[in-house]
Amino acid sequence: MKSIILATLVGAFCVSAAIAETVTLRQRISINADWRFQKGDPSEVGGKLAYDKIKNWVLPSGAAFAKDPAQQWKRPEGNLGGDISYVKAAFDDKDWRKLDLPHDWAIEGAFDKRGYGQTGKRTYWGAVYYRKHLEIPASDQGRQFYLDIDGAMSYSLVWCNGQFVGGWPYGYSSFRLDLTPYIKAGGDNVLTIRLNSPVGKGPWYNGMARWYPGAGLYRNVWLVKTGPVHVGHWGTYITTPEVTPESALVKIGVTLANSGKVPARVVVKTQILDGPTCVATTASHTVSVDPGTRANTTVQVAVEKPKLWDTVHPDRYTAVTILESDGNIIDRYETVFGIRTIKFTANEGFLLNGKRVRINGVCNHHDLGALGAAFNTRAAERQLEILKEMGVNALRTSHNMPAPELVDLCDRMGILVMDESFDCWEVGKTAFDYNKLYPDWHEKDLRALCRRDRNHPSVILWSIGNEVNELRDNVYGPKMAASLSAICHEEDPTRPTIIGSNHGGASYNGVQKGVDVFGQNYEAGGYAEFRKRNPTIPLLGSETSSCVSSRGEYQIPLQGKNKGNVGDHQVTSYDLAAPPWGRTPDDEFRAQDQNPFVAGEFVWTGFDYLGEPHPYMEDARSSYFGIVDLAGFKKDRFYSYQAHWRPELPMAHIFPHWNWTDAGSIIPVHVYTSGDAAELFLNGKSLGKKMKKPFEYRLRWDDVKYQPGEIKVVATKDGKPWAEDVVQTTGPAAKVLLKADRAKIAGDGLDLSFVTVTLADSSGRKVPRAKNLVRFEVSGPAEIVAVDNGDAYNFDAFQAKEAKAFNGLALVILRGKLGQVGTVTLRALSEGLTSAEVTLETGPR
Ligand code: GAL
Repeated sequence: MKSIILATLVGAFCVSAAIAETVTLRQRISINADWRFQKGDPSEVGGKLAYDKIKNWVLPSGAAFAKDPAQQWKRPEGNLGGDISYVKAAFDDKDWRKLDLPHDWAIEGAFDKRGYGQTGKRTYWGAVYYRKHLEIPASDQGRQFYLDIDGAMSYSLVWCNGQFVGGWPYGYSSFRLDLTPYIKAGGDNVLTIRLNSPVGKGPWYNGMARWYPGAGLYRNVWLVKTGPVHVGHWGTYITTPEVTPESALVKIGVTLANSGKVPARVVVKTQILDGPTCVATTASHTVSVDPGTRANTTVQVAVEKPKLWDTVHPDRYTAVTILESDGNIIDRYETVFGIRTIKFTANEGFLLNGKRVRINGVCNHHDLGALGAAFNTRAAERQLEILKEMGVNALRTSHNMPAPELVDLCDRMGILVMDESFDCWEVGKTAFDYNKLYPDWHEKDLRALCRRDRNHPSVILWSIGNEVNELRDNVYGPKMAASLSAICHEEDPTRPTIIGSNHGGASYNGVQKGVDVFGQNYEAGGYAEFRKRNPTIPLLGSETSSCVSSRGEYQIPLQGKNKGNVGDHQVTSYDLAAPPWGRTPDDEFRAQDQNPFVAGEFVWTGFDYLGEPHPYMEDARSSYFGIVDLAGFKKDRFYSYQAHWRPELPMAHIFPHWNWTDAGSIIPVHVYTSGDAAELFLNGKSLGKKMKKPFEYRLRWDDVKYQPGEIKVVATKDGKPWAEDVVQTTGPAAKVLLKADRAKIAGDGLDLSFVTVTLADSSGRKVPRAKNLVRFEVSGPAEIVAVDNGDAYNFDAFQAKEAKAFNGLALVILRGKLGQVGTVTLRALSEGLTSAEVTLETGPR
């Protein structure tokens, strides 16, 4: 611990921000623009790039995963694959398709109705190539060049100027390759990346996942340039071991890499910034690094009166680590972090900064609906905004490493993250599941996850797996769980590990002792029994409910849990339907409330996702599990969670719609409210008042005799007026309405406006069953990227200029054009209806 130094004079050593900003030695450059793309291998590849043959090739040089940096993997000898025409520097790629990243090639074009529902009826398999020309100036001579890929789906192999560099097979992992030996400073350089997504033969479970994996360079790609001596990849590790209201001890581990040829003596110091203000600086510390090696150093500093990160005030600091050699600044590296304490307890659930925070979480898959798997920060932010409105304070990245920007968003928005690694270990669930990679790669993948994400205040749990088959084995399962937990603890002893277990009933086989927090999937009936048998192990509902519904569809008369199908591949929205292993939200609320030691839950799922369309697994193309549909429209269930998770918010939500055909027929009317009682009125006449009984989460009037007009609920709390909601019988669709979620977006080729299209009657009320086709025209500096309507049984391509409404709604996603500023007008036209127009502005970011 010789290298630990505590700077006591807070702020006394702050270096002015002006000096720091003049440092240009490290550059992190987005290289998303102008790639060339081609599907299929050239003929000379034959079978030689099958995974079994290439697995020894894929040994990344300079990767940051090795436990001991001295044991970096060595690249194999020879220029592997250098004879493939597509990888050669001189190959003429001008006829290849030109595009920008992030790119999910498998989301493009029509659905294949005969395809696999499990993976979204998308054809995502086969080999593809991406090529990118990089102009590297002669003045860059002597610098280091790193290629940082946030995620490439999948089995990536990378060549630079025709020379094999390395790759990474697991499509969700972020990784770095060292390009330095292959780059020519002063001229054109070519990167070639081959990706492949294998599938086997057979019914649904035949690919790489049980959901839609996406395909391509679907996340951001960066070129990082540094000097020879620099902060290594993911080279800082910041923890806050002591936190009081007066002061926080901030511990900063720094890994230095010397890629040069001479030994270096480097002065390291870190400033802590709160916004633009420097609030503390570590003492300077001199470290020696031999050429071709790394060195670690740890310093610590006190931050007085720290602003703590929590879900309501997600305050963050930036640590600026500065390396100096011979009086010159040679590197400057920023790390965003937060000061907070976390603890899982057996009896009080999860404590954030010493206070209980019940985990009101959702699981989400990684696709962004109509945008496919191509990561887009605004699309992810919109999902989180909608979920936060519902009361979500936690996200489980089921069942894999997320895009790094998603974790940044969670930091910024105060959302706790259960950061997940795998959906299987050695026993796969699909023909080309992660089990193929597990033996060679699980340690690297898990270390990459922890090392990348361990500075994020939002991350509170490392999940070592979901429903892995090894759970059933009472020798192997516990052993593997313990060894994966040990890897996480080596990388980061400050966060607990968890597993999502579906191991039935209360008969646990010891696997719960291999993790710090036990996650139960769909075991609400077993919480009490678990606690009896495991009095000291914290417990979390790692996956709950799996209620299914289609927005705006209602089955009458009401039926039981497994019987919610309403025909035409839709599921009732009374929120009473769930698969045999699932349960209604109400049942899970009850189980959690009756067992308050449970830390909370992660509902399956926040948003609908592509694939896994239970109960229409063979026929439909996207899920019914979402609380919010694929297009981002709220289902009734949204209000069930809002009522329960935001009890302070006055709200009431009444359903179903009020456009039934037969007067006198019985229509069950249900209400979600954060009040404790409510009175129902049909056309102004009271149908009675109901109180919520203990462990009841909705109010029901199951025998309302339908009369067209208006059904209204007036909710109260503690006897006082609290909230109202009303639905009215509408006329037929008469007009289109448009509403953009943001009227101003950046003209940067990335930013999006999500425009809701509503089919309304002549009084402007949404027509609940309207399905009219709407055409879109856009003028100005934006384009339509995709359309959707949230219908899981819709096979129209997402990239279209028209959409059928589904139960009154459709969505248009507009993207501002790069470098263009001005007014955008979107027009919506539908035969026989009054058309609509909405305008928005694009401007600088
Ligand atoms: C779980 C599984 C999820 C999803 C869900 C559907 O068992 O972990 O990935 O398949 O079921 O209910």
